[in-house]
Order: sequence, then structure tokens, then C-alpha cells
Amino acid sequence: MRALTWHGKHDVRVDTVDDPEILNPRDAIIKITSTAICGSDLHLYDGYIPTMKAGDILGHEFMGEVVEIGSKSTLRKGQRVVVPFTIACGSCYHCGKHQYSACDNGLPADNQDIAQELYGQPMSGLFGYSHMTGGYAGGQAEYVRVPFSDVGPIVIPDGIEDDKVLFLSDILPTGWQAAEFAQIEPGDTIAVWGCGPVGLFAVQSAFLMGAERVIAIDHFPHRLELAKKFGAETINFEESAVYEALMEMTGGIGPDACIDSVGLEAHGFFVDNVLDQIKKSTFLGTDRIHANRQAILACRKGGRISMPAVYGGFVDKWPLGAFMEKGLTLKTGQTHVQHYLPGLLNAIVEGKIDTTFLISHRLPLEQAPQGYKMFHDNQNEVTKVVLKPGLAVAAE
Ligand SMILES: NC(=O)c1ccc[n+]([C@@H]2O[C@H](COP(=O)([O-])OP(=O)(O)OC[C@H]3O[C@@H](n4cnc5c(N)ncnc54)[C@H](O)[C@@H]3O)[C@@H](O)[C@H]2O)c1
Ligand SMILES: [Zn+2]
Ligand SMILES: [Zn+2]
Repeated sequence: MRALTWHGKHDVRVDTVDDPEILNPRDAIIKITSTAICGSDLHLYDGYIPTMKAGDILGHEFMGEVVEIGSKSTLRKGQRVVVPFTIACGSCYHCGKHQYSACDNGLPADNQDIAQELYGQPMSGLFGYSHMTGGYAGGQAEYVRVPFSDVGPIVIPDGIEDDKVLFLSDILPTGWQAAEFAQIEPGDTIAVWGCGPVGLFAVQSAFLMGAERVIAIDHFPHRLELAKKFGAETINFEESAVYEALMEMTGGIGPDACIDSVGLEAHGFFVDNVLDQIKKSTFLGTDRIHANRQAILACRKGGRISMPAVYGGFVDKWPLGAFMEKGLTLKTGQTHVQHYLPGLLNAIVEGKIDTTFLISHRLPLEQAPQGYKMFHDNQNEVTKVVLKPGLAVAAE
């Protein structure tokens, strides 16, 4: 089959690779109809995530048709399914608490050590996201093997097109969980750093959960415009000082909750960000955490920080003192996708959540490398690239 494979920093290729096979009774093989490139994939593209190997198949946002099932899969051939990016067993202690991304059994036994050493405990597996998260082949391919297919995938009713439901695989539940973790109360003002897909879904979700005001922060005018369409007020951090603007907009109090949907590659020419960059390039640090620092300093006393954004390693000058003295709370984590799927599918079917606004480009799988480059180089206009293995390559 054809698949998008990683070969190093800014080097991804569509190669011919072996077809996936059923390895365990609970597996299913899915023929991919739509798969998206995620902001998290850019961390791989930029070479920031350790334990990648040349030839790894990327992709953790995908859906398609069930074409093969193991003896213990509950799926049936021909069903259309969206697959959560988190691989979870459904029956361990953490899955029992619906904390699927903390699953004890998502990683193959021979891959548990890396995460155990770095993070203290292994977490759930992830599709197409390094060997630390299981080394599973991803779904930016014609076919993919889905472990625990009786737990993860959600069956999509007939008549709902792919583009409406594809983002159930990751970014919609991630934006939703981000808003839920912000513990929104009616009347709250919520600030959201980053108007990528996750931030934009967090904006939509925050309003649905009762926020009175949402203030969205980014520097890409097009992304800020999208946030405005959902009712957010906006701050362009290249035009205004964010902390000062937030204080002015909230009568000197600060937002009730701050959502960091930026992550370890914060942009911006700020002193702390430049220092992070130097540390990173000299291997003295791992993450550029400017947005997170700013969120903690701007948040109102007693407020909440929600952090869907991905961070990878050890950080420097994280304002722990401010965090403690102001009495903040922080909730974070990879999304417990399985937990949110039924409710969010309903919200889509009922028209309460719009997802298709986000898709700026649809490309055949063969053009995935161009898709990565576009998404990486032009984040203003390229909000989401969806790859369709079935789409014909346009003639040059
Ligand atoms: N927790 C999870 O399960 C989960 C799932 C999906 C994605 N993520 C993470 O969420 C984050 C966002 O994902 P995305 O797909 O929206 O990514 P994205 O790269 O498309 O968007 C990030 C946005 O942040 C903006 N930004 C950069 N620096 C900023 C700053 N200093 N202040 C304000 N905005 C700034 C960028 O301009 C960009 O628009 C990433 O870190 C991604 O890895 C986490
Ligand atoms: Zn993703
Ligand atoms: Zn589990």
C-alpha cells in the first residue's frame, strides 16, 4: 500500500510499504477514506519528538471503512468508523475511570520502558507518533491496523460525510476537553492562546459550555478572523501586548480561565522565547513555553489553566511561584477521546458544532508531503489539510 513515511526533519515521503495485517483478535483493518495532518504532526516534522525511526508511518487523525476484523472485534466489515488517536484497552484501572489516554495497556510491552523512564509511567499508545508512544503505524496511508477495535472506533451513521466527523478523531474532543478542563461557569471570561484547530474548537466549546466572553490570541489574521466568527474577541500578539490587553479587557482582574492551545513551539520575539530557543538549539532545554508562562501570569487569582497543548520534556523558568501564590489550578493531558465521542457525534448530527469550516485544503495522499510543507510554511491560511487516498492527483 501507499503511506506517508517520516525520514527526518522536514523530510516526509509517500512510499510503498507492506499492507497491515491482523495481529491480535481485537484488531481491525480500516481502509482510509480521510485523514488529516495535525499541529502535533508538525512537532514530528520539525524533528522535536524523540524516538522516531526512518520509515515510520505518520497520522493519528483518520477514518474509513472496516475491511478486515479479528475474531474478537465488535466491528463489522463495511462499517464506516472514526478512530480515536489514543489507543486504549478499555478495561484497565484508568480506562475504568474513562481516562483513556492514561491506559496501562496501550503500549506494546517492549515499548513501555521509554515512557516509563521519561514520565514515570507508560501512557496510552498513539497512532503514528514515535516509538515512545508505541511505534504504531499511523493512518496517513491507504490502510491501518487498529488495535482494541472493540473499544476505540465509533461507527458513523450513513449519510454524514467524512468532513463533518473526521475531527472526532482528535482535535474536536481535544478542544472540548480543553474547555471542560477550564471548568467554565456561566458568565466567565475565557482566554485561549493559539487559534489553530484545537484553539478554535476550544473557542466554540467554551461558548457552548456557558462562557460569556472568549478572548482568542494568535498572530495569524486569518485564524483570528475564524475565532471572531464564533463570537470571540481577539488579540494579535504582534500588534498588542497580551498581558496588558487582557488586563484592560477584564477590568484589571484577568481571565477566569486560560487555555493554552499553543504548545512547545510558541512563536514570537519575546525575551523568554528567545532564551528558550537558544536553550533548545544547544540541547539545554526542550520546549518553548512562552504562551504557557503568559497564561499563568495573566490568569486571575484563583483561576484555572487548561493545557491541551503538547509539551515534551523539561522546562525552564516556568512561573511556579505565581502559579502557587495566585492559587491556580491546572488540568492537562492527551485527550480521553473515547470518553467524548458519543456526545460529540450527537452534537455534530444535531448541528450544534460545525467542523467543516476548518478545512482549507483537500489533497490526495500522494501529495501529503506538499500538504506538510504548506501547513508548516503558511499557518495563516492553511488551517487544516485533509488527505484523501481516493482522490485523483491533479494533472500538473
Ligand atoms: N492534548 C491533546 O490530546 C492534543 C491533541 C491535539 C493537539 N494537541 C496540541 O495542541 C496544540 C495546538 O494544536 P493545533 O493543531 O491547533 O496546532 P497549530 O500549530 O495549528 O496551532 C497553534 C497556534 O498557536 C499560535 N501561537 C504560536 N505562538 C503563540 C503565542 N505566543 N501566543 C498565542 N498563539 C500562539 C500559532 O500561531 C498557531 O495558530 C499543539 O501543541 C498540539 O500538539 C494536543
Ligand atoms: Zn492530532
Ligand atoms: Zn486501558
